[in-house]
Amino acid sequence: MKIETYHIPFFNADSCSADCLVAFVDFAWLFDATSQSQAGEIPKPSWLAHILNVTPSLSASCSESKHLLISEVPNLKASRLLLVNTNKSNSIANCTPDEAHKTRNMLARQATFICSQLDELNVKSACVMSPFANCQAYMQALLDALLFASYRFKAFKTSPNAQKPTSIKRLSIAVEQDELKPDIARALAVHEGKSLTRDLANLPGNICTPSYFAECAEALASDSSLLTTEVLDEATLKEMGMGAYVAVGQGSEQPTCMPVMHYKGAADSDLPSIVLIGKGITFDTGGITLKKPPGMQNMIYDMCGGATVMGIMKTLTALRLPVNVTGIIATAENMPDGKAFRPGDILTTLSGQTVEIISTDAEGRLVLCDAMTYAQQFNPAAIIDIATLTGAHIVSLGSHASGLMSNSQALSSALVEAGESSSDRAWAMPIWDDYQEPLDSFAADMRNSGSHSPGMITAGCFLSRFAGNTPWAHLDIAGTSFQYGKGNSATARPFSLLLAFLTQYSEKPDSTWPLSPVLY
Ligand code: BES
Ligand code: MN
Ligand code: ZN
Repeated sequence: MKIETYHIPFFNADSCSADCLVAFVDFAWLFDATSQSQAGEIPKPSWLAHILNVTPSLSASCSESKHLLISEVPNLKASRLLLVNTNKSNSIANCTPDEAHKTRNMLARQATFICSQLDELNVKSACVMSPFANCQAYMQALLDALLFASYRFKAFKTSPNAQKPTSIKRLSIAVEQDELKPDIARALAVHEGKSLTRDLANLPGNICTPSYFAECAEALASDSSLLTTEVLDEATLKEMGMGAYVAVGQGSEQPTCMPVMHYKGAADSDLPSIVLIGKGITFDTGGITLKKPPGMQNMIYDMCGGATVMGIMKTLTALRLPVNVTGIIATAENMPDGKAFRPGDILTTLSGQTVEIISTDAEGRLVLCDAMTYAQQFNPAAIIDIATLTGAHIVSLGSHASGLMSNSQALSSALVEAGESSSDRAWAMPIWDDYQEPLDSFAADMRNSGSHSPGMITAGCFLSRFAGNTPWAHLDIAGTSFQYGKGNSATARPFSLLLAFLTQYSEKPDSTWPLSPVLY
């Protein structure tokens, strides 16, 4: 999709020549003669007044509706007009974070509707107008929402019609100043990364295998001089001593590997790197502790963390963000088999600590813990892991907030703040020592799961034992990263949170933004 900005004031939208003019207006203001203004003192443009004159019957019934599609509007160059009700609430700048969040959510819903309408009508070019074209934050959010809503996952639909991506080829956004131009480049870079995240996340286990992740990481490196990729194969991981990581993939025909990507956007001395580790279980059957069918279906998404890290790396190269980031995909397939690891097994991790397996279904923490130990050799400013780690996350926080656990107050606050500012929220949960006890093992240093314990926190406690003295945070995204079968399923969360965090980090020299000391 080609995106451009357009210098037509809301007032003169009648001269816009796209197939469809999409105009955001407050319907109460439009249809109610007594309500004089929207967003301050904008008078009603004549092209709108004209609609009301031609079809006066619209007035009474429409002020409450959310949208209105009108064809062949006299005096309008565009052959269709799609009116979208702004419902008065348009604050995004100069308002509380919660109000801004609600506005972004509303824009997301409206954008989803707009894109599906335009698709249905087979519209090739659309021009979007908002009376808030002078508010940069609002226009940025609108642009992001439209791009996000234009994503389709249709690779496996065989009818030629269904296979098409969205039909819109050209999207113009009416603006008052040219300020939005750099935002378009940024929005497109974000869109590319998010779409990669969603594609990977939506791909099923028979296609998106650990090797697929490795190929994808290598492709990113060949596309950008700022990124290098190294793929550690199964034999290497074993030799290095990643006993927990390797055990998880033992029952699978798919070879385990660990893609490591280094993005270098800043001089080393300027800014210590951030390591992102994504859980990339390409399918989680539960292993010998086999899952039951209804829940197992969701497990094609058990690599959403890995998919998010891959998408972020892609966007970093496009934005050339001045920051150093290492992206590790902790990927394997968890299958039951004669060679599979089993409950009762004792594994030796790369850190030297031993783990007694209670459930082979608590596999995510096993690949992550070794990747965390591995990551420490880079002396990063922080390690952040992103994982569809526990069903308990869904029970605790549902789909609205990712579960955040950290050994550093500063890192935790920075991530919460990044989530708030990008409407990709995370909520901090405690990992006090009091919560560690369920992991006690009679035979090994720890067990890999508790029983009757608060599962999300227990998992966080397990990982905390592998953070050493590095500031570390864990994001449990089981409930936020996908909605099986709904819409486009994969949500790309917490992509926005991570990008907001990295952007913030790139803007602050290390000395003014220490993420240490660690608490636990
Ligand atoms: N991948 C699952 C967690 C999950 C559940 C993600 C639902 C997305 C949706 C994870 O590997 C798992 O099976 N966790 C177990 C842990 C338990 C055995 C301690 C769980 O949550 O039941
Ligand atoms: Mn599992
Ligand atoms: Zn899993």
